[in-house]
Amino acid sequence: MNTICYIVAMRAEATPFIREFGLKLNENFFAPLPCQLYEGEVNGTRLCVVLNGAQHNSDLVGCEAATLATSQAIQHLRPDLVINSGTCGAFESKGADIARVYIGNGVMFHDRRVPGDDAWTTQSIGNYPVWKGSHELALQLGLPEGKVTTGSSLDMQPCDLEVIQQHGGELKDMEGAAIAFVCSLYGVPVLFVKSVTDLVDHSADTFEVFSRNLAAAGESLKQINKQIISLLTRQNPATNNPE
Ligand code: ADE
Repeated sequence: MNTICYIVAMRAEATPFIREFGLKLNENFFAPLPCQLYEGEVNGTRLCVVLNGAQHNSDLVGCEAATLATSQAIQHLRPDLVINSGTCGAFESKGADIARVYIGNGVMFHDRRVPGDDAWTTQSIGNYPVWKGSHELALQLGLPEGKVTTGSSLDMQPCDLEVIQQHGGELKDMEGAAIAFVCSLYGVPVLFVKSVTDLVDHSADTFEVFSRNLAAAGESLKQINKQIISLLTRQNPATNNPE
């Protein structure tokens, strides 16, 4: 692969990884947009991390910022593979645990309720493709797999849960499906690497639990991403083919 590009929403999710690989900030690369580019080289592959950026003293999370960052990243960096690395909520009833890392095996939206016919439902839910090599990678790394399900809120309303259950969602985030939507338009494969910060089937305050576990999730993401980059940048056509 020539170029691998991570799309990451929060600095806490990316900083351990950026430090590990010694990536450097390319200031004003996306000016006047808030997205930030960190880049470097690993085993001859250009490694980029694009952060959504910040506004009102907080990292920009959610689908709008993720759409913008992904679109800019693909247009300006021409990656062979996009990787969305970040945190998620997951279901304890399905065996999830804090800071466990999953590989996404599908991706959907859960909070776009558009009445009408099958075509509107299909568009609303999304169900975009993930990189074909995702399953093999999960096997190689011994990681569990799950379907990423995206909405614009940290909390989960009963109507969200209904859609998530109906469509088999497992890893609840705020960016994944927006990133996959853009990738599908450009025909760029996308891999999801998600670490659990909170268990959505617990009644606890989600934001408090999320904040408490954010650093641990960032560390587990770093460890797994190190292994992923090592595998993907090996000079081995069987493991580094983006198709
Ligand atoms: N990111 C981490 N935890 C989340 C949750 N419960 N919902 C949406 N995004 C998240």
